[in-house]
Amino acid sequence: MKAVIPCGGMGTRFLPITKAVPKELLPIVDVPVLSHIIDECVQSGIHEVLIVISPQKQIIKDYFSYNQSLYDDLMRSGKTELAATVAAVCDNADISFVVQEKPIGSAHAVAITKPFVGDNPFVLALGDDLIVGSPPVTKQLLDAYDNVKSTVIGVQRHDGDDITKYGVADVACENGKLNLLKGIVEKPPLNALPSRLACYGRYVLHDIYTYIDKIQAGKDGEYQITDALMLQCKAAKAYSYEFDGKRYDMGDKFGSLQAAIELSLKRKDFGEELKRYIKELASRI
Ligand code: G1P
Repeated sequence: MKAVIPCGGMGTRFLPITKAVPKELLPIVDVPVLSHIIDECVQSGIHEVLIVISPQKQIIKDYFSYNQSLYDDLMRSGKTELAATVAAVCDNADISFVVQEKPIGSAHAVAITKPFVGDNPFVLALGDDLIVGSPPVTKQLLDAYDNVKSTVIGVQRHDGDDITKYGVADVACENGKLNLLKGIVEKPPLNALPSRLACYGRYVLHDIYTYIDKIQAGKDGEYQITDALMLQCKAAKAYSYEFDGKRYDMGDKFGSLQAAIELSLKRKDFGEELKRYIKELASRI
């Protein structure tokens, strides 16, 4: 199985930093969110990852390229642990890139990955969604896929009114974690929610190119993956899977801050120090 990670989005919710830094490279302290998502794929048994970038985001390619002179400098000065950290960025997975010349939607981003994916099922992981799960969310979806051999879309119950920011699953009948889909409604208004199951940017896609070929451009001339999924739900079988894990909205400033704090609390190098600091801070505010 391979994975595709589209990184074409403008990151407007994270301006002004995204004027110069792609949102996918924004760090959780010292590691970009994109690395965390690639780790999730690797820990789920996927080692080939294709990243779709815009022409303005070549810096993502730089981040995942070997920097031999930095590595050599660190080794020469005895900083072997840091050298290993730098090398691990590239050794973790077999990462390749394709450029989406124009930002004309998520379905177009997926369409140009066909030479990489071929006719096989693959994982689509969106960079705005950092999901911490054990087993990793992608592994949970792959296990569900093994049962049904059809498209599986990761969902979670979302009680807030901001569910209108997401694709929402229209399930035939809610019974357990894996449910047959009637459709997905992209960003429905609150008075027309098909369910409370929001799509959080993780998909195992099966035969999706057939449906991408059939969709029309929507508003702003963009081709959306949800439209292809909707066609697939009508013509074949597709499922939602309610995964376990904590999801952070990394396209949102507060979501990113929550992820930085919560993931840092688990770090061996300064997690305990951070916990003491937060307790002390909380007593003062
Ligand atoms: C995209 C998808 C949407 C999904 C969301 C998850 O929306 O179109 O269905 O719920 O990602 O983050 P976007 O965030 O690109 O507007």
